[in-house]
Amino acid sequence: MKSKTLVIGASGQIGTELTHQLRVLYGFDQVIATDIQPPVGEIPEGELFDVLDATDGDAVRACVEKHQIGTVYLLAAMLSATAEKAPRKAWDLNMNSLLIVLDLAKDGLIDKIFWPSSIAVFGPTSPKQNTPQACVMEPTTVYGISKLAGENWCSYYQNKYGVDVRSIRYPGLISWKALPGGGTTDYAIAIFHEALKTGSYNCFLTENTVLPMMHMDDALRATLELMHADLSDVNQFKAYNIAGLSFSPKDLSKNIQGQIPNFKILYQPDFRQSIADSWPSSIDDSEAAQDWKWKAQIDLDHLTSDMINNLKTTLFTPND
Ligand SMILES: NC(=O)c1ccc[n+]([C@@H]2O[C@H](COP(=O)([O-])OP(=O)(O)OC[C@H]3O[C@@H](n4cnc5c(N)ncnc54)[C@H](O)[C@@H]3O)[C@@H](O)[C@H]2O)c1
Repeated sequence: MKSKTLVIGASGQIGTELTHQLRVLYGFDQVIATDIQPPVGEIPEGELFDVLDATDGDAVRACVEKHQIGTVYLLAAMLSATAEKAPRKAWDLNMNSLLIVLDLAKDGLIDKIFWPSSIAVFGPTSPKQNTPQACVMEPTTVYGISKLAGENWCSYYQNKYGVDVRSIRYPGLISWKALPGGGTTDYAIAIFHEALKTGSYNCFLTENTVLPMMHMDDALRATLELMHADLSDVNQFKAYNIAGLSFSPKDLSKNIQGQIPNFKILYQPDFRQSIADSWPSSIDDSEAAQDWKWKAQIDLDHLTSDMINNLKTTLFTPND
């Protein structure tokens, strides 16, 4: 078994943090970060980074062969809000990158894949509360359509070719280290930035829009726990539902006001409202709990103080 790990889409919101955790876990010389765009600033000594286009099959194959890669984390994708503006481009990126990596596993070049799905696989006809792992799934966004098709491709490659591919349906992820990449839940990060910088935020969703969310630390822990789970516990492919928090912009703003009393929120819903309206409010993650003992740890109070405390430092400390 080859030991090295390749992260594709490593410069994004999840990749920035996941790559660091993988380096700490496996060693800096064991993890190769790649992205179509280099990370902001200079690449620190000892960190391996290659520019790589995830839709260029020959280049991805060459990178896997050059570095003797065993495991791929494929994070390159176009997210929900951006994808609605360029549906064909989103489909091409989200599907082709996945099929390229699945084929490398089918051909025996890599042993294991992590590919994230999303709560966007659900649509208006899915149950809205406590949405189960398996239910009616009729997504109405190109992002959701691509994620659902991706799940089916993963399942197909596992059943037909024995590919070890693992997946999680992430909810909206909230983090302070890297900016989000164009999703419908991005407001839950922007709100903290604006609360600290200007004391007010103009929200693009209505006050009572409840969506499933999660602190990045919980999402990263889930990812690594699933990747380290015994294959016998996860041998039937599922893109696992995982639940963290469910809250509305109003709930979040009240929590922020607990720490920044003068904070004000205004509501000016835009095209992202209809995307949010098509998604679940809360998620049933009992199958993840059963199969690999998943349990979220970070509640809304912890998330709020973590975001405020860390952003206070990073937003107002000049780069040297
Ligand atoms: N962040 C969330 O809240 C969330 C929620 C659900 C699912 N996901 C999924 O997790 C994955 C990562 O999401 P993220 O939030 O880090 O996204 P992001 O947009 O922040 O990062 C994606 C990265 O992919 C890179 N990229 C784009 N096109 C590329 C290409 N052709 N080749 C190589 N790299 C390319 C971008 O430069 C970017 O750095 C995606 O599959 C996304 O759908 C994220």
